[in-house]
Amino acid sequence: MVRDYVRWHAAYDDPGSDLSARLRLVQGAIRDWLTSTTGPVRVLSVCAGQGHDILGVLAEAEAADRARVSGALVEIEAANNDVSRHRIADLGVDLDVVHADAGLTDTYEGLVPADLVLLSGIMGNISAEDIERLAHTSRQLCAPGATVIWTRGVQDLDLVPDIRRWFTEAGFEELSCVEWIEGTGMRVGVNRLVVAPEPLVPGQTIFTFYR
Ligand SMILES: C[S@@+](CC[C@H](N)C(=O)[O-])C[C@H]1O[C@@H](n2cnc3c(N)ncnc32)[C@H](O)[C@@H]1O
Repeated sequence: MVRDYVRWHAAYDDPGSDLSARLRLVQGAIRDWLTSTTGPVRVLSVCAGQGHDILGVLAEAEAADRARVSGALVEIEAANNDVSRHRIADLGVDLDVVHADAGLTDTYEGLVPADLVLLSGIMGNISAEDIERLAHTSRQLCAPGATVIWTRGVQDLDLVPDIRRWFTEAGFEELSCVEWIEGTGMRVGVNRLVVAPEPLVPGQTIFTFYR
């Protein structure tokens, strides 16, 4: 039984929460990425929740930047998808909300490659083995030179050094890895693919949430 991932989002209502601190950093990384790009770009948010990160950035972006972003938010909880869909309609942006299991490669057929892959709020909820597989499989989700933004909070098992190494082994260079964000145990990594992407391999399971 996993957590109530609709109520989980209530922490974003409190600007003083650890999650809000993490969100500000993730949004800053998305803004940096958007600024570094030109022309049409595609975004893929894996386990998107209510999409606060990418939708928050697009809400504040110049109209010309909003217009060149397309992509998909993949999320398994229908109520979260309803929230995202309403916000996407209000913003008038070209993002699809995909109600599907983001842990299966089949889900990504037609959604990839992406220039930005968001892996926020996943790595604290899946096993180390699944995280390693996700880092490697991210290469299948990426366009050439794509950016991946990932998060992992402080937990009993400090996997951040492993996560950084797994991304390097998978062909990503590290652009940043910020720890103790605003004094919280939140950490956010930003990596860029520096090898050729891999084609999507259907029929694989990447990860399963355990909480
Ligand atoms: C910790 S929240 C993070 C949400 C969002 N990415 C963020 O950072 O605000 C994890 C989200 O993953 C979703 N989720 C869990 N397992 C999933 C799966 N197999 N496929 C798609 N979404 C999943 C949950 O419903 C929840 O909304």
